[in-house]
Amino acid sequence: MKARLWHEHAREIAPKPPKLRTLTDLRGLRPREADRANQELRRWMSGQRFDWPQQQRVHTLLSDCAEDNEILGHGAKEIFAVDATNGVGKSTMVREWAMARYKETVGAAIKSREIPTWQPSPGIYAYHVPVVWVNLSSAASIKEFNTSILKYLDYPVEGTIRSMNLRVSDAIDNHGIRLLVIDDAHLLNTRPTQGRDVLDHIKHINTELGERDGTMVLVGAGLADHPLLKDPQIRCRLRYHRVTPMAIDTVAERSEWQDFLFRVEKRFLPYLPRSKPGLLAGQHAPHIWRRTQGFVGDAVELVRLAARRGVEDESWTITRTHLEDVELKVRAETHARAAARSREQSGKRPSPARESYSR
Ligand SMILES: Nc1ncnc2c1ncn2[C@@H]1O[C@H](COP(=O)(O)OP(=O)(O)OP(=O)(O)O)[C@@H](O)[C@H]1O
Ligand SMILES: [Mg+2]
Repeated sequence: MKARLWHEHAREIAPKPPKLRTLTDLRGLRPREADRANQELRRWMSGQRFDWPQQQRVHTLLSDCAEDNEILGHGAKEIFAVDATNGVGKSTMVREWAMARYKETVGAAIKSREIPTWQPSPGIYAYHVPVVWVNLSSAASIKEFNTSILKYLDYPVEGTIRSMNLRVSDAIDNHGIRLLVIDDAHLLNTRPTQGRDVLDHIKHINTELGERDGTMVLVGAGLADHPLLKDPQIRCRLRYHRVTPMAIDTVAERSEWQDFLFRVEKRFLPYLPRSKPGLLAGQHAPHIWRRTQGFVGDAVELVRLAARRGVEDESWTITRTHLEDVELKVRAETHARAAARSREQSGKRPSPARESYSR
């Protein structure tokens, strides 16, 4: 990721929903028109993101942390960690929040294609980069960590670790960095030989950021057991939040799952004119959960691909067969099979109910 690309993404305008058509209109389309309409629908559907309770919660907690850090005295500030197993949607939720914060900070400058500029001191102009998003690679050392930040800012990345450290510190000042998101933070190399230095470096950067009232956000999988979060100095500044896939064990959880699917059907089903309200949130809700184990991205993908089948075979709805025909990603399929096996072995009823939910 680079500041320029981040700015471009922040400027993107959500594509307009495709035109709604009645069954008669759809049946009257010529083959080329139908192909074009289907392609447009597929593209639009694949870009859709849906709110869910844990996302709202994370957004609130992140805003609280960043706002507290702005008003607390200078020095090292609180670090926020979002921990979740792979594929739950942690990067997506933090990114949405960070994007919103970026837009809020740069204000009217979002209208320009150029990265905003500001004056860090009178008469000096520099790019204004309030948000830095870095994706770490495997076993990232201090050098790789610094390189990710410097590359984001289009800085040279040669030199000793010491000179890179200085460049990173200067960059925080010069570009008004107020939020540093480290995605896949579990990939930081904390093995005994280098680990101490890496942890010290992270703390040092957090102090530098804190001096300007900024916030560091760590996003990763299995962070709770990671040496990063075991470090006593980091722990005493840490706000930790674990995100889990949506569950359906209690009445309240089932209701949240249905609300989520209801949001999905409200957006997607108008394009399937033979579907009825409640098709996803009621009839298919238990099946969608069993297939996806409450991973929201997988659930949306399952519905999207099933909807595609409903369009292609011109049934204009989503049937159980459409859903069953969809092959999800290996992780999702493996999870679903393992859950089904463990239910069979424990002799439990299929979770949580075989029938559809009423709405
Ligand atoms: N709210 C949402 N609505 C629709 N799709 C979503 C939503 N959140 C996540 N997704 C999709 O789910 C998939 C996984 O999301 P994401 O990459 O954010 O998960 P992650 O927890 O960061 O995974 P990893 O551990 O692999 O980094 C992505 O394809 C993403 O587009
Ligand atoms: Mg991720």
